[in-house]
Amino acid sequence: MKAVAAHKYGSPDVLNLVEIAKPLPAENEILIRVYANGVSKADVAMRRADTLLSRLFLGLTKPKASITGTLFAGKIEAVGSAVTQWQVGEDVFGETATDFGTNAEYLALKETATIARIPANMSYEEAAPIADGAITVHNFLTRVVEVKPGMKVLINGASGGLGTSAVQLAKHLGAEVTGVASGDNLDLVTQMGADHVIDYRTTDFTKGNVKYDVIFDLAGKLPFGKAKRALTADGTYLSPVMGLPVLIQMMWTQRFSRQKAKFSATGLLPHDQLREGLKDITALIEAGKMWTVIDRTFPIEQIRDAHRFVEKGGKRGNVVVTIDHAEPARAAAE
Ligand SMILES: NC(=O)c1ccc[n+]([C@@H]2O[C@H](COP(=O)([O-])OP(=O)(O)OC[C@H]3O[C@@H](n4cnc5c(N)ncnc54)[C@H](OP(=O)(O)O)[C@@H]3O)[C@@H](O)[C@H]2O)c1
Repeated sequence: MKAVAAHKYGSPDVLNLVEIAKPLPAENEILIRVYANGVSKADVAMRRADTLLSRLFLGLTKPKASITGTLFAGKIEAVGSAVTQWQVGEDVFGETATDFGTNAEYLALKETATIARIPANMSYEEAAPIADGAITVHNFLTRVVEVKPGMKVLINGASGGLGTSAVQLAKHLGAEVTGVASGDNLDLVTQMGADHVIDYRTTDFTKGNVKYDVIFDLAGKLPFGKAKRALTADGTYLSPVMGLPVLIQMMWTQRFSRQKAKFSATGLLPHDQLREGLKDITALIEAGKMWTVIDRTFPIEQIRDAHRFVEKGGKRGNVVVTIDHAEPARAAAE
């Protein structure tokens, strides 16, 4: 079967299309025929592995897992003899986090992995990115901090993969939402439901008078030291971008400050917790409260171009990678 392999860290040129054996599911595994996956900012960061901190998880000198990709959506083709939760023919999506391996025609996963049924109103392409953006912002906005009705929430980086989901979810939770992005992308942020938008190229919101209960820095461009000027006295700064400063601020503010800094690595949470999150998100999608924004779709043969596109910045929502199979895919969402 076709798959994408990377045997070293570096530019998109480390990604190569290779032929490998199709996996056979073990007795507690399901075999998924993958129709779509995605290239996220996190996939790009893991391909580069620029920091020592990231290499502690991924492999010190080269990737521990050579087949790339963390997101998937597809159809169950076979189940092992001990599998009880899944059936052949079901449409599923999810993520493999640091186990990787989704940029491939087939994927064998334990039945207890981070897997959920695709909502009836979604295509494979729309489902694949959910386990990046929607699941991450669900973790941050409902567990790391509990957003309540009436709270003022600012999303810094509101037009990207995580931002488009964060605006939708924060609105659903009843917050007054401000989205920060640039230029034409501000229209998209308004379409997602933001009450206010700010262009970071012309306005520094930390110099204004408005104080926010939550500032979610998806862009990774706003240090806690600056963000806290625009936080309420008990406000929370959220960062999904791993780095030593935020880990130190998290420990410091936990003990010594009413204003908190918080980080979480969503992909490293236990599978059952992530599955709970996917169940909540699926219900919101089926109720029409959340949806996936797709900027561009690339066939798997153009995986290097997909990585280059994400790496240059400026994407609106998500980037999806598709895989053709002789077997017909499910019908796209109406
Ligand atoms: N910890 C976790 O669990 C976890 C999980 C998944 C992803 N992540 C991380 O989350 C981050 C966000 O990912 P993403 O897919 O949402 O990225 P993205 O799609 O590239 O979006 C970036 C956003 O930041 C905005 N932006 C750029 N420069 C800015 C600035 N100076 N000030 C304010 N906004 C600015 C962009 O707007 P314009 O395009 O208009 O400039 C865009 O809205 C990545 O670093 C990723 O690795 C963390």
